[in-house]
Amino acid sequence: MVLRLPLPSPFFTSERVMTSIDTLEAFLAELDRIERRAADLVPAASTATDVEAARIALVGRESGALTALAESLGSLPREDRREAGQRFNAVRVAIEAALEAAWAGLSSARTTAVADPTMPSRPFWRGARHPVSIVLDEIEGIFRELGFTIALGPEAEHEWYNFGALNFPADHPAMDLHDTLYLGEGTLLRTHTSPVQVRTLQAYPPPVRVLAPGNVYRRDFFDATHAPAFAQLEGLAVDEDISFADLKATLTWFARRFYGQGTRTRFGPSYFPFTEPSAQMEVEVDLGDGRGARWLEILGCGLVHPAVLEAAGLDSTRWSGWAFGMGPARLAMSRYGINDIRLLYDSDVRFLEQFDAC
Ligand code: PHE
Repeated sequence: MVLRLPLPSPFFTSERVMTSIDTLEAFLAELDRIERRAADLVPAASTATDVEAARIALVGRESGALTALAESLGSLPREDRREAGQRFNAVRVAIEAALEAAWAGLSSARTTAVADPTMPSRPFWRGARHPVSIVLDEIEGIFRELGFTIALGPEAEHEWYNFGALNFPADHPAMDLHDTLYLGEGTLLRTHTSPVQVRTLQAYPPPVRVLAPGNVYRRDFFDATHAPAFAQLEGLAVDEDISFADLKATLTWFARRFYGQGTRTRFGPSYFPFTEPSAQMEVEVDLGDGRGARWLEILGCGLVHPAVLEAAGLDSTRWSGWAFGMGPARLAMSRYGINDIRLLYDSDVRFLEQFDAC
C-alpha cells in the first residue's frame, strides 16, 4: 500500500543524522533526542496518517532516525558498543510499543464511534441488466421451454455465410458497400444473425432447434429508430415435416407469452432470399403512449429455403425448417415505452437503473 502523506505536516520530517557519531557520548545524546522526539510525535498522532508518518520518521527502514543511528554503532570504540547497543535496543522496543499502542488506540476509537454495529450499511449501486438484456433473457427463457438451445456465431463473418450460403443473388442491394461494413479478404461485419443458421446446420445434424442472439452491423445513420450496431435474435427449427403451421403456432405462442395472453398476431407477406415463403409478424400492442393499441412489426420469418439447407450439406427433400429474426431492442422499446433507440446506447445510469435495479 502506498500512503500519500500531506507534506506540510510536523510528522513528516525525516531526519537523517548527517554528522558522524563516533563517541558513546554523542551516540547517547542522539538516542536521547530521538526518544524525546518520539514522546512528542506519537501521543499527538490522532489519525492513521499521523501514526504512519511518525513510524516512518522514527523507525522507517529508509530514513527513520533510529535506523540512521544504528548505522553509526559500528563507528563507536569497541568497548562502548555493548552499552550503546543495549541502550539503543531499549529505546527501539519502547518506541515500537508506543507506535503499536497508538495504532490500537486508533482502531478502538473507530469501533466505539459506531453507535450500533448491526445497522444496515449505506445503500450502494450494484448495477443492473440493460433493458435489451432483460428482454433477451426473457425471450430465451420462453423458447427454452420449447426445447430451443442457444447457438453463437462470429460477428466478423465470411461473406459466404452472411450472403452466399443464404441464397442472396450476386447483385442483391444488401451486399452493396452502402449497407455493409466490409473488412476485406472476403470478410465483413455480419449484417444479420442468419449466418448462424448455416453454421449450426453444418455442425449439428437435424433435428435442431436453436436461438442465436448477437450483435449485427449495418451502415446506418444513428437516429431515433436506427443504430449502426444492434442486437438480433435468430430462431431456427429444422426437422422432417416442418410446415408454415409450426412457424405460426410457435411464434404466436411466443407473442402471447411475451405480451400477454390475449395478444393478437398477424402475418403478412415479405421477402428474404433465404426463406420461401417469407413473412413478417405483427403483434397488436398498446405502447402506453396514449394512442391505444396498434400493430407493430416485430420479426421477419419464413420456411428455410431449400438452397440454404443444401448449402449447409443437408438433403432438402428430406429436411425442412422455419426461421425467424427479430430485434430485441424493438421489443424492449415496446415493452417499456422507450421512444428513442439512442437511449439504449447512452449508458446513462439514471435511465438504465429504472429497469432492473438489483
Ligand atoms: N435476417 C433477417 C433480417 O435481418 C431476418 C430473418 C431471419 C428473416 C430469419 C427470416 C428468417 O432482416
